Amino acid sequence: MRVLLTGGAGYIGSHTALVLIERGHEVIVLDDFSNSSREAVRRISELSGVDVPVIELDLSDREAAQRALAEVDFDAVIHLAGLKAVGESVEQPTRYYRVNLDSTIALLDIMRERGITKFVFSSSATVYGDPIYVPIDEAHPAGVDLASPYGWSKFMNERIVHGAQTAWPELEAVVLRYFNPVGAHPSGRIGEDPSGIPNNLMPFITQVAVGKRERLSVFGDGYNTPDGTGVRDYIHVLDLAEGHVAALERIAPGVETYNLGSGIGSSVLDVVRAFEQASGQAIPYAVMPARAGDVAVLQADPGRANAELDWRTTRSLEEACRDSWNWQSQNPAGYHA
Ligand code: UFG
Repeated sequence: MRVLLTGGAGYIGSHTALVLIERGHEVIVLDDFSNSSREAVRRISELSGVDVPVIELDLSDREAAQRALAEVDFDAVIHLAGLKAVGESVEQPTRYYRVNLDSTIALLDIMRERGITKFVFSSSATVYGDPIYVPIDEAHPAGVDLASPYGWSKFMNERIVHGAQTAWPELEAVVLRYFNPVGAHPSGRIGEDPSGIPNNLMPFITQVAVGKRERLSVFGDGYNTPDGTGVRDYIHVLDLAEGHVAALERIAPGVETYNLGSGIGSSVLDVVRAFEQASGQAIPYAVMPARAGDVAVLQADPGRANAELDWRTTRSLEEACRDSWNWQSQNPAGYHA
């Protein structure tokens, strides 16, 4: 297929681009580079040996999107573009709603005008809020008391996809609810490159390891978990990328929703220990108060994706730590070396 990959220069997008190309698909990267780098696309081309076309565009600008895509030939869209910083979304709610909703709406309208029916949407386990049971399957209630405009924007986008499909039954859509992506391509050429102080655990740990930050703050050790620190389902970004390809290759009319996770829960201290082992670097840390909006445990039941997409994670947390460290140590300043 010829796949329009929005957000294709970002962390998840760059790995998904590579896996799509390896599986014989053509990729067109669409990105506004507001939180990503052209260097990532250059490296996708270098690793794959394929010259990847790029469209630089803010998708929430509907008219610009219509103009830019008018002459572009594609069969499917994987929509990863969006704003994703949970804390920032609390400070700038209207910006998050505008950018994250307008871009999906513009894309779906353009697809309908063009008769392009295949749509994969990047959602998040954040739509489950504070879970009432774990592991979380897709039948778990979603969109209840979410802690951030970011989370609400993901949930509202899911509703927009459902609404579009009701009105346009030919639409073939898959909603992928990601758990916590970590790791990098084993080459060390592409990886996660957050701007400013990392919000997420793994890039913070790798920046401590490379000497950029003094110590990790562990946000709370009083949760109802085995060691008191928050438990998450960490998934290697290449496993996640493969999940997108599996979803695209089995897409059918309707909307299907899948958790993409490993099914394994790891605490903050489990991740610290796994990273120390994989990298040989000590990670000093201090326990700090819990972060507002965090939940104790988010852990997937990935059974549905395993059965219906014939997909499962194959890479361990240790491999993800090794690959994250390989990326960060080879690129201490990310793409901006
Ligand atoms: N944590 C720390 N110190 C840090 C950063 C994180 O202790 O410096 C802890 C958090 O409290 C949490 C765990 O590490 O227990 C994971 O935190 P992340 O920020 O890496 O990830 P979250 O689970 O909070 O959120 C991530 C994405 C969201 C997504 C969610 C879905 O950032 O976009 O996963 O599970 F919605």
